[in-house]
Amino acid sequence: MILSIESSCDDSSIAITEIESKKILFHKKISQEEEHSCYGGVVPELASRLHAVALPKILEETKPFLDSLKAVAVTNQPGLGITLLEGIAMAKTIASLKDIPLIPVNHLKGHIYSLFIEKETLFPLLVLLISGGHTQIIKVLHFEHMEILATSIDDSVGESFDKCAKMMGLGYPGGPLIEKLAQEGDEERFDLPVPLRNSPLIAFSLSGLKNAVRLVVEKLGGADKMTKQDKSDLAASFQKAVKSHLLQKSKKIFEKEEIKDFAIVGGASANLYIRNAYESLCRKYNKSLHVVPLEYCSDNAVMIGRYGVDAYHKKKFISVDAIDISRTKKQQNGTLLQ
Ligand code: KG4
Ligand code: ZN
Repeated sequence: MILSIESSCDDSSIAITEIESKKILFHKKISQEEEHSCYGGVVPELASRLHAVALPKILEETKPFLDSLKAVAVTNQPGLGITLLEGIAMAKTIASLKDIPLIPVNHLKGHIYSLFIEKETLFPLLVLLISGGHTQIIKVLHFEHMEILATSIDDSVGESFDKCAKMMGLGYPGGPLIEKLAQEGDEERFDLPVPLRNSPLIAFSLSGLKNAVRLVVEKLGGADKMTKQDKSDLAASFQKAVKSHLLQKSKKIFEKEEIKDFAIVGGASANLYIRNAYESLCRKYNKSLHVVPLEYCSDNAVMIGRYGVDAYHKKKFISVDAIDISRTKKQQNGTLLQ
């Protein structure tokens, strides 16, 4: 069995996965959304302290499995340095006490492997990763070759939902709140700019759109003066602009890449409005769309364990005294995920 740990942001999660069957024997996640909600975003220091309480609490529950462990997998990058270290310290301790291998897992690869929790692995694959930290299109040829084709030059999709929700006084995380409000809204009411619409750049950008939302909020007198309908209309108009931006850049990649399978992963891939839009786009471009079960879209240790299983077979281990375990490599087009 593999014990996996995820603590890259505001979810403390541990899972136990059987290596041969890939069956999930245990999974628990403690989210910190409530604690960060009043700040409108994640406060790293607070997140780190909450992990320090939650992770040992969850670990207690894994006691029946500890004798059967063959390896420990842990998210080592990218993420918040001080929250990653909580998970890494725990993983190193278990690996060294039990004298079993330590497997470092890139969080983005973990999200990609969330596709394979309930399905067989499938390569090659084009993946749109939309989370709180990233917006990328990644070409996945196999376990070792995951190449960034397009990335965000500023905010990520999830982050833009969170920041717009904060401006509208909605709370955190903003993604589900905006998606829900948008269902009651008129997406044509506010004419928000679709980012990089006239640019040949194959990249994502969300900060200009976020600024456009801020200007509308200000024009309406601030969040307190906005009616529920104003907020719904703005949420719908914003979500529509995000969708158009994602589709427009994805189309450019679809036109260049022949890979037939396309997947959406990451926390924001739970958004059904965006999923539906991709269903139509994939039909048009003759691609098969793959999505992640809703419970595994946001951060969790099961996806880290699932990647850990493949890494275990390939003996991708790291020494417990490695010091650069949490260093994030520079991410630009053409970069391979490490
Ligand atoms: O993957 P994830 O759990 O964490 C990171 O790796 O960053 O993603 C969290 C992000 C948050 O920004 C959250 O607002 C966003 O995913 N999110 C959504 C939805 N559900 C979560 N964004 C848009 N629509 C949703 N339904
Ligand atoms: Zn994530």
